[in-house]
Amino acid sequence: MAQRIVVTGAAGQAGRAVVTDLREHGYEVIATDTAVSRADREDGMLRADLTDYGQAVEVLSEPGTDAVVHLANIPAPGLSTPAVTFNANMAMNFNVFAAAAAVKLSRVVWASSETTLGLPFDTPPRYAPADEDHYPVPTSTYALSKVASETIAGHIAQWSGIPFIALRFSNIMAPEDYSRFREFQDDPHARKWNLWGYIDQRDVAQACRKALEVDAAAVTGNPAFIIAAADTVMNRPSAELLAAVYPQVKLTRDVGEHGTLLAIDRAREVLGFNPEHSWRNHVTA
Ligand SMILES: NC(=O)c1ccc[n+]([C@@H]2O[C@H](COP(=O)([O-])OP(=O)(O)OC[C@H]3O[C@@H](n4cnc5c(N)ncnc54)[C@H](O)[C@@H]3O)[C@@H](O)[C@H]2O)c1
Repeated sequence: MAQRIVVTGAAGQAGRAVVTDLREHGYEVIATDTAVSRADREDGMLRADLTDYGQAVEVLSEPGTDAVVHLANIPAPGLSTPAVTFNANMAMNFNVFAAAAAVKLSRVVWASSETTLGLPFDTPPRYAPADEDHYPVPTSTYALSKVASETIAGHIAQWSGIPFIALRFSNIMAPEDYSRFREFQDDPHARKWNLWGYIDQRDVAQACRKALEVDAAAVTGNPAFIIAAADTVMNRPSAELLAAVYPQVKLTRDVGEHGTLLAIDRAREVLGFNPEHSWRNHVTA
């Protein structure tokens, strides 16, 4: 029988891609969001505000639910005031994590963020490619909400025995965003804030699905994984970009011509994550 997965933030950018991908792969999805259009409602999306614990418990208590992919959050710094961003994200994340433990789900997969690694790198990274150990370096209340939530996830994982898998997504892109990439090319500083990284929304969905499917023994506790595309957003080679913008930062290994400076080796090894989508296949910049 197909597994039943609750997807929070299902009306959002990542959420829509995740719901589509899971359904295509035979899962039953219970989609939930606080912003539900008429079409979403007709498609069965459940309206719930996850800053309210009771609603989080009710959503995760939908009969037969096995696991949750938790994507609902204020998704970046600067969209709301700093305190609202922190408080809303903490409330949503704590409520979903505690509810998942209370109703004994088998797994929690959730969206952390590349921002926990030190974005926007006004202070240069200590080394590149930045990997999971280049953490925690929050510089905004948004990133702080993700760092604090990773800590909370770790403790609830310990109390409950449920694996909590944090996916530190890079900047999420839809295929229609790729035409904008031409604008980045003349200025190596334009996208230095996340070391020129990105992730296609379809590969976000792949990462979520693989995190649901990976053997539990490989993800005990609360592991975190950087999830980025295999390449940068730039035509200029990665080593040249780093030398031009951050001449003091050591490149610890050969990354290939356009290889990502946000290391995805751990996600490849443990989750079997293999990004399939590159902007280079969509536009010639
Ligand atoms: N977009 C990116 O570049 C990026 C990068 C790294 C991590 N992330 C993380 O990935 C996740 C998804 O991001 P996205 O780009 O799809 O964002 P999005 O804003 O498109 O989707 C988030 C969804 O959460 C919902 N939501 C907000 N408050 C809610 C509440 N109180 N209760 C229930 N639902 C609520 C919103 O209605 C929205 O549909 C977020 O956790 C975000 O922090 C995003």
